[in-house]
Amino acid sequence: MTQTGAVTEALANRRSIRAFKPDPVPEDLLTDVLETALLAPSWGNVQPYRVAVASGEVAKEIGAELTARFNTAAKVQRAGLFAKFGALMKGGVKPDGDFNTIMKYPPELGARYRDTGHGLYGTLGIERGDKAARHAQMARNFSFFDAPTALFVFCESSLGAYSALDTGIFLQSLALAAEERGLGTCMQAALATWAGPVKARFDIPENYKLICGVSVGYKADHKVNSFAPKRRPLDELLLKPKG
Ligand SMILES: Cc1cc2nc3c(=O)[nH]c(=O)nc-3n(C[C@H](O)[C@H](O)[C@H](O)COP(=O)(O)O)c2cc1C
Repeated sequence: MTQTGAVTEALANRRSIRAFKPDPVPEDLLTDVLETALLAPSWGNVQPYRVAVASGEVAKEIGAELTARFNTAAKVQRAGLFAKFGALMKGGVKPDGDFNTIMKYPPELGARYRDTGHGLYGTLGIERGDKAARHAQMARNFSFFDAPTALFVFCESSLGAYSALDTGIFLQSLALAAEERGLGTCMQAALATWAGPVKARFDIPENYKLICGVSVGYKADHKVNSFAPKRRPLDELLLKPKG
């Protein structure tokens, strides 16, 4: 048996945290997490990512604006065509993110996505048909599941897929560094749906696009945090040789 240590432990213990205590994250602890994540490799060491840290009042303001957009967008989606057009004209409802976060999954991935969703709602005791409860749970994304800090991660767009790849490695490094230091995280593409509230408060260099948010804080003792979706077996990962 190979001897394993902190990396395997953090990999095994990290999971997406969807209920946080309101306690603030000490600034030096967050700095330590971010500096550790900066050890991540990137193509040519170009490190094509930037992070906007929102804590305290700024996080509350951004969270309130994102939640309002999500609630209005959901209302508009349920409304008739005429109301939809009127709301879209007013602005602020239509996603203004840099990337499309509303995906159409190919069948293989769609099945995994649906299983994960059902598992999450099942853990919370939310019935499939309970649209109001599902909406309320989805809305919690935008107040960062009560986390005191939200990170908004931008990647340089001219490098295309490789910039996103580097940013993903950075994100996982950050999540593992946080886990090792007793902090929970939830990476959230949902937080890239509307970019306006973040762009209004931070200087974003040209060509940097909002790709993902991360809620960060201390894990609350809540059943949602017990949800640990299973991974596929290894033989579903490995490609078969031809012939
Ligand atoms: C790029 C990315 C985007 C994600 N976006 C969201 C999100 O918007 N909301 C959410 O609750 N979870 C989000 N997740 C968390 C995934 O659902 C989660 O990683 C997956 O179900 C595996 O569970 P685990 O992280 O607990 O191991 C995201 C994860 C990644 C890597």
